[in-house]
Amino acid sequence: MKNLTFVLSILAAAMFVLASTSVMAVPPGKTVVFQDGKMGKVTFDGKVHADHGKKCSDCHPKLFPMKKGATKITFAQHTAGKETCFACHNGKVAFKAMGNCAKCHKK
Ligand code: HEC
Ligand code: HEC
Ligand code: HEC
Repeated sequence: MKNLTFVLSILAAAMFVLASTSVMAVPPGKTVVFQDGKMGKVTFDGKVHADHGKKCSDCHPKLFPMKKGATKITFAQHTAGKETCFACHNGKVAFKAMGNCAKCHKK
């Protein structure tokens, strides 16, 4: 019985560490809203990405500087599948741009 309590407390501790690292993996601003475009604003949610196992180094600094508003996102990037969001949103790592406009662009 004592052993079981011990095992359970280790488990609880491990779950706590896991939970707090996924919270950690959210950029401090938690979300970044892109709203310069005519297509409607796009909300990038850090938590969604952290929950899918994305680490800071998957995006910073290769795809994005750690600075809101620093990245200019063009339509050409949407289909090239190499830069910014579309290094992942290319149908391989995550849903691709084509056919999925409304998953990102909200009026
Ligand atoms: C899936 C991609 C992705 C991951 C993973 C990610 N970020 Fe970011 N982060 C972004 C994007 C996109 C921006 C906005 C860049 C822009 O607007 O040019 C950003 C912006 C930031 C900013 C600037 C916020 C501001 O208000 O200026 C900081 C700081 C940051 N991220 C830290 C982190 C840290 C720390 C981690 C890991 C714990 C992390 N990011 C993980 C995509 C990501
Ligand atoms: C993975 C998310 C994502 C998907 C899917 C996506 N976009 Fe975008 N798109 C963005 C982001 C982020 C921007 C930058 C917007 C800004 O700066 O305000 C952008 C910018 C644009 C721009 C240039 C800025 C503007 O609005 O004039 C166009 C055009 C565009 N997207 C069209 C589309 C179309 C059409 C589709 C579907 C075929 C699509 N996008 C799918 C994220 C996405
Ligand atoms: C490092 C890879 C990576 C990058 C870079 C990335 N994403 Fe994602 N994104 C994912 C994965 C993985 C998922 C979850 C799987 C899926 O939905 O296909 C996801 C899911 C999403 C979702 C769905 C959210 C939900 O509630 O289901 C949106 C919207 C999104 N991303 C927008 C963006 C935007 C906007 C950018 C650029 C600013 C971006 N992503 C950059 C990997 C990435």
